[in-house]
Amino acid sequence: MEANGYVAALDIGTSEIKLVVGELLGGTLNILAEGCAPSAGVKRGAVVDIDKTVQAIKQAVEHAEAALGDQVRSVYVAIEGEHIQIAPCHGIASVKREDQEITDADVIEVINSAQVMRLPDEMSVIDVIPSSFTVDQQTGVVDPRGMLGYRLEMHGKMVTGSKTILHSIRRSIERAGLKLDGFVLGNLALGMSAASVDEIDLGIGLIDVGHEKTTVSVFYRGDLVYSYILPVGGDHMTRDLVYKLNCKYQDAKVAKEEYGLALEEMADATEGFSFTNINGEVAYEPQAEISYVLEARIEEMFTLVLNRVQKVGVPALSGGYLLCGGAAALPGIQELATRVMGQKTRLYQPSSIGVRHPKYASAVGVLKYVLMSDHHVSKQNLEKPDVREVVPSATTADRQSDTGEEYDSTERESKNGFGRLMEKLFGV
Ligand SMILES: Nc1ncnc2c1ncn2[C@@H]1O[C@H](COP(=O)(O)OP(=O)(O)OP(=O)(O)O)[C@@H](O)[C@H]1O
Ligand SMILES: [Mg+2]
Repeated sequence: MEANGYVAALDIGTSEIKLVVGELLGGTLNILAEGCAPSAGVKRGAVVDIDKTVQAIKQAVEHAEAALGDQVRSVYVAIEGEHIQIAPCHGIASVKREDQEITDADVIEVINSAQVMRLPDEMSVIDVIPSSFTVDQQTGVVDPRGMLGYRLEMHGKMVTGSKTILHSIRRSIERAGLKLDGFVLGNLALGMSAASVDEIDLGIGLIDVGHEKTTVSVFYRGDLVYSYILPVGGDHMTRDLVYKLNCKYQDAKVAKEEYGLALEEMADATEGFSFTNINGEVAYEPQAEISYVLEARIEEMFTLVLNRVQKVGVPALSGGYLLCGGAAALPGIQELATRVMGQKTRLYQPSSIGVRHPKYASAVGVLKYVLMSDHHVSKQNLEKPDVREVVPSATTADRQSDTGEEYDSTERESKNGFGRLMEKLFGV
């Protein structure tokens, strides 16, 4: 959080580092600047080369600062990857004020109290997300502030991640000269800011087609109930074209991004890509051929996603699907997803100038989530012991990632509560 009220969110992607800076103006998100830089030291959400990552972050920051006309000093970071776990948590605190009115400080204390539990050595707390509160005997309270009580309880979720992975990200941020405001669970923030409360309640799937992975998240009855990472993304599409065109990776990337379509039938017979192949020969590939390869790959990806989602046990995703991530910029991908998934699918890309590309969805999602949920205010006040500990117990989302079990209906009530809380916080 910057002194002048704006917030910066960073998405450390495998292909590109994306930084967005914004503020809330009259309840509306106003994007002030963006910065983007090729990423070299990241693999599927984990930093594998700190030096290279630092350079890329600095580059993205410089780009954003030029547009902002100010220095970016601190960032919230989108966190994602296989190392993330979500577990139920519970906190208890006594109300401080003598007149027993519950204040922000009590809410912060009860959230903090949930973090003082045992965690395995290799895990760290990323975030605590309240689902509902209990004030004395009254359960299911969405927002306890202003109510009267002696004892406040919080029921929620704790997001934890690998200490090693988080440490490398933290070091990269610090060495790039930035302060870390906090980690935010990327797909949760994105879902909560891109989908409506009704969609999250009815059921909606979020498909983020990135560079080396596709992250699938299912929201149902107001909560994130399932997440899965398919280790396939835009990079695989480019590599398919490298073989098909017998060309360099960079040329295949141009073919994909400038001539490729996700549906062969949409191809223009007069369009095609001229290039020099690996043997030094001048070559030409019609758009239809390029798109044929892309369609086959993407159809397979969506089929794998559908197979996973069908095992979640959510009756029907009446809200359909939301598609984002850089590779979702391919024309025709929305139509292909609708066909394969058998549900209406819409493309999510931020609407503000400068970030109007689905690759910015995650960074903008975090920014919106942080600003609109007052996250930056409450989290700043949280005491942050270096090592917070909780007892891990797999949530529905975790269990389903592994086994594809049925969704547990007994957890629905609190999830509705979470949806209502977000509704209140987001003011929708
Ligand atoms: N116009 C476009 N058409 C097709 N593909 C595109 C287009 N623009 C970007 N891409 C592809 O999107 C991918 C990058 O997307 P994104 O920035 O969401 O990934 P990332 O966040 O860096 O990676 P990951 O999420 O896997 O860590 C690249 O493979 C890139 O080629
Ligand atoms: Mg990504």
